[in-house]
Amino acid sequence: MERAMLGRVGICCTLFAVALQVCQASVMVKVTPEVEVIKGETVKLPCSYTTSAPASPIVVQWFIEVAGARKQIAYNSSHGFGVDAGTGMTERLTMGKDLSLTISPVMVEDDRTYFCQVTAGPLGFSDNKTQVKVFFPPEKPVVTGNNQAISVSDAEIFSEVAKCISRNGFPQPRIIWFKDATPLPEVKDQKEKTYMIPSVVKEASGLYTMTSTLFMHPVKADAKSVFHCTVEYSMPNKQIKQESSDEFSLSLLYPTENVFFQLKNQGPVKEGDDVLMKCETDGNPQPEFEFFKEEKELRGLKGMLEVKNVSRKDAGIYKCEAMDFDALDGVVELIKTLNLSVHYLDPVAVTPEGPLFAAKGNTVELQCRTKSSDEFTLKWKKDSKVLSQSGGLTIESVTLAHSGVYLCVGAVPSVPGLQKQASVTLTVTGKPEIDASVNGFVEKEGGMVTLNCSALGHPAPQFTWKPSGKESVTVVGNKVISTITLEASAVVLKDGVICEANNSLGKDMKRFQVSIKSDPDKASDPNAVNRGNPVFKTAEKQQGGSSAVVIAVVVCVLLLLLMVALLFFLSKKGKLSCGEKDKDVASADMKSIVVMSSEKGNEEASLLNKPHAEQVSCQRPSLAWWS
Ligand SMILES: *[C@@H]1O[C@H](CO)[C@@H](O)[C@H](O)[C@H]1NC(C)=O
Ligand SMILES: *[C@@H]1O[C@H](CO)[C@@H](O)[C@H](O)[C@H]1NC(C)=O
Ligand SMILES: *[C@@H]1O[C@H](CO)[C@@H](O)[C@H](O)[C@H]1NC(C)=O
Ligand SMILES: *[C@@H]1O[C@H](CO)[C@@H](O)[C@H](O)[C@H]1NC(C)=O
Ligand SMILES: *[C@@H]1O[C@H](CO)[C@@H](O)[C@H](O)[C@H]1NC(C)=O
Ligand SMILES: *[C@@H]1O[C@H](CO)[C@@H](O)[C@H](O)[C@H]1NC(C)=O
Repeated sequence: MERAMLGRVGICCTLFAVALQVCQASVMVKVTPEVEVIKGETVKLPCSYTTSAPASPIVVQWFIEVAGARKQIAYNSSHGFGVDAGTGMTERLTMGKDLSLTISPVMVEDDRTYFCQVTAGPLGFSDNKTQVKVFFPPEKPVVTGNNQAISVSDAEIFSEVAKCISRNGFPQPRIIWFKDATPLPEVKDQKEKTYMIPSVVKEASGLYTMTSTLFMHPVKADAKSVFHCTVEYSMPNKQIKQESSDEFSLSLLYPTENVFFQLKNQGPVKEGDDVLMKCETDGNPQPEFEFFKEEKELRGLKGMLEVKNVSRKDAGIYKCEAMDFDALDGVVELIKTLNLSVHYLDPVAVTPEGPLFAAKGNTVELQCRTKSSDEFTLKWKKDSKVLSQSGGLTIESVTLAHSGVYLCVGAVPSVPGLQKQASVTLTVTGKPEIDASVNGFVEKEGGMVTLNCSALGHPAPQFTWKPSGKESVTVVGNKVISTITLEASAVVLKDGVICEANNSLGKDMKRFQVSIKSDPDKASDPNAVNRGNPVFKTAEKQQGGSSAVVIAVVVCVLLLLLMVALLFFLSKKGKLSCGEKDKDVASADMKSIVVMSSEKGNEEASLLNKPHAEQVSCQRPSLAWWS
């Protein structure tokens, strides 16, 4: 009995298992489990099926779930295929012949589960589901309410620092606050020093607008920080993206703890400078300031005190007082002082005062003096040449050339730009002295020649030319130059032209030669022509160089032959000696050869240098080799 029972149970189980297998295998529906799409784009949900045996009729239906119940949105059966009306998405749906369902354009509410169900006559039905995920990037976050001034001293009060809004994202994005590029932890506990109050608004479009309000109890150091907020959102393929707001800083108000009063000028201040002094505090905002010097109030502007064109009288103690009523009384010293030093150099005084006259040969003594706040130097200069490094300058037995302007320059090395100068003009009186003169040249007899006669001397010399011509006078420095243009007649070519310079103290004269300009090659001064014509010079050198090589080689060979013959002859007669005299003669000869061939380079020169000469003259065994 038991055995029969067991047998029946076994058969039942087997049948049940077979039935289950048939059930499972009858219809198989294949869909894409998850599809991601950006709002506004098109998405296609494929569906296909397989049956374990041929069956009909086949009905394919697409469903969504509404309030816990399935609602058909599209179908395909032997009676036809299409989209159901009145589903709210009818307009945007297309049923494909391949059983796929296409949604276009996708809206936020399309983010849901879709079921594809296949009914295959007697085989029964089966379904499978597709999850559609919709994405939409939110707008760049915008910060508002960040420009109100916040007082740091109100220790109890938490201030709304800023509000960050990022509109129209899907799914819900996240707002993160940053202080100096460091994310602030998301804190909602209002007992913390910093916290955020987030809020979400679902727009009519289904998109989310996120808001986060940042509350802080700011400290003074936060004034230097920059803040921003970032929205973090998802996009297809598990991408996490971010977009940041513009940066902003807090306008914090905090009382003064220190006052600073500084000179803004670079380097030491000297008379004539414009001086700028600045008073500021480490509080915000900057308070009003008052400036004083020796109890006298001065007018400043926004903490700046300017004194134009300072003089030594402006040196002294300046005072700045900050009028900060928020500052902690008694703790903060609100008055600061500044000791302004003004460096100066008095105008340079020269004795004796000019204009100065001295007769040639006399001694001239010049003195220059000044005073300064600092160590200074005095220099005497003439034509930018320094003549003395002290205040005194003595010129013994002056010449006409000593005439000119003497400059005394005073300077304070420790204060750049502090410099004063004065000058005196010295005139040395004496009879004229004609200096270096240049002779004249003409193309041919009868041509016009111009001559310059330049003379020193005071009173200014007068010029007389013999013969005379067209004359003009110019003054260059302490020289007077007379220029004459005349015809180079036969007499002029023969006797030259005489220039005479005279003044009340005497006279000087000079004869100028005038000659006919000859061929450039045969100029009166051949060196001058060569110097002035480098092209010509190199050409000559090259030509001369190559012929010199040939000549030198020939001479060398001839001399060698001659010497060998001579030595051979002498050795035959047994008269060869190694005496100093012979050696000298030989080396002297060699030297001249070396000199002659020097232009050809080292090759020949080394071939014929001294050791060989000695060999030839002194070493008998080598003679065999030479012959
Ligand atoms: C649903 O589809 C998945 C993959 O396409 C498949 O593995 C699964 O067996 C299907 N389920 C049914 C009940 O057909
Ligand atoms: C969809 O229905 C049509 C007739 O309405 C039929 O011809 C077609 O074969 C069906 N498609 C599938 C894949 O069953
Ligand atoms: C500066 O002040 C001095 C007197 O102290 C005066 O002689 C000079 O002209 C002033 N210079 C300018 C540029 O105002
Ligand atoms: C101000 O500076 C000058 C020169 O540097 C100095 O002689 C003077 O004593 C200073 N005054 C004060 C009050 O420090
Ligand atoms: C003569 O002097 C004048 C003016 O100084 C100058 O231009 C000219 O070159 C001089 N001529 C000669 C030949 O030195
Ligand atoms: C210079 O010489 C000329 C002619 O020789 C003469 O007329 C003139 O008075 C002299 N000048 C002086 C200053 O002596």
